[in-house]
Amino acid sequence: MMILGIETSCDETSCALIKEGGRLVRQALFSQTELHQTFKGVVPEIASRSHLEKINELVEQMIQGNQKIDGIAVTIGPGLVGSLLIGKMTAEALGWVWDVPVVGINHLEAHLYSSFLEHKELKPPFMGAIVSGGHTHLVLVEDFGKYKVLGRTRDDSAGEAYDKVAKLLGLDYPGGPIIDRLAKKGDPTAIPFPRAHLPGSWDFSFSGLKTAVLYFLQNLTNKGGLKIESLPLPLKTVADICASFQSAVVDVLVRKTISAAKKFGLKKIAVGGGVSANSFLRSELIKKGKENKLKVYFPSLPYSTDNGAMVALTGYYKFKKGFYDAKNQEPLEVNPSLPIKNWN
Ligand code: KG4
Ligand code: ZN
Repeated sequence: MMILGIETSCDETSCALIKEGGRLVRQALFSQTELHQTFKGVVPEIASRSHLEKINELVEQMIQGNQKIDGIAVTIGPGLVGSLLIGKMTAEALGWVWDVPVVGINHLEAHLYSSFLEHKELKPPFMGAIVSGGHTHLVLVEDFGKYKVLGRTRDDSAGEAYDKVAKLLGLDYPGGPIIDRLAKKGDPTAIPFPRAHLPGSWDFSFSGLKTAVLYFLQNLTNKGGLKIESLPLPLKTVADICASFQSAVVDVLVRKTISAAKKFGLKKIAVGGGVSANSFLRSELIKKGKENKLKVYFPSLPYSTDNGAMVALTGYYKFKKGFYDAKNQEPLEVNPSLPIKNWN
């Protein structure tokens, strides 16, 4: 079985091929980061136009040498509606021309399975943590396509908090990797930023932390007779803010994920989404996992952020289990706020 995966939900255009055994054959990816950098965030119109310009070229790279395709998997949500539509229309057109079935994929599920690309021993059940630019979810994965969403963010996602704090500090977009880098030079105990542990719930909240960073900056700049716009601050101060902010985010993510895994009697944790690329989150979760006899899985860095391989892989599992929208049935629907649903 050879599955073509198509991902266009946000600012990465990516295609990949997955073969029997869920093995990656190849992937092509175009990142739009540079196009959005001047705006310090993703501009939906620019994103969809860029997907349209790139998608055919990436598909061609997948089918070189007359590669036969047996099925197509495409992200249909959550994401930006215009961007999702480019992927969906491409998948439907190719499915019609090649006469192969097309399956719609939930982007969050794809992040949940991204660790499976490289860790072939990983199987459900496991505690899934999705930490992306748009979402922060704790999901009990009982089996392929069988989930219990335990908690989600009540306001900003972890990635959004990183990007917004980076913006406050006058740093570039996306802020996550920059804060990750700067935090290595700072003191994580320098500023006691608040942690929203929300006892009794598996939900998250990061907007209070973001506001605390804003107030801290306002206070700092007022005291120095400066305006917040007069950033950049001294590098050491920025590094301390980054390290202290990151420590607050990671503290909450690690504690809740470990507690949830223990509470539900699981032995494995799999993390996915852009923030899973974070070096401090990785080291802390692995360390705390070991202390609690839990095995923690992360995708390698290229598969932590958005990529076509995880979409093709999720499609492969769905095709294998017979869950796909048969040919010539109702057209696929994109849904910008698609929830995680069980397959049956
Ligand atoms: O999963 P993703 O590529 O896109 C969405 O599905 O949203 O995640 C993008 C997010 C951005 O907010 C970005 O700042 C964050 O992932 N990110 C990181 C790191 N690399 C990317 N956050 C913290 N540390 C990183 N190293
Ligand atoms: Zn994503």
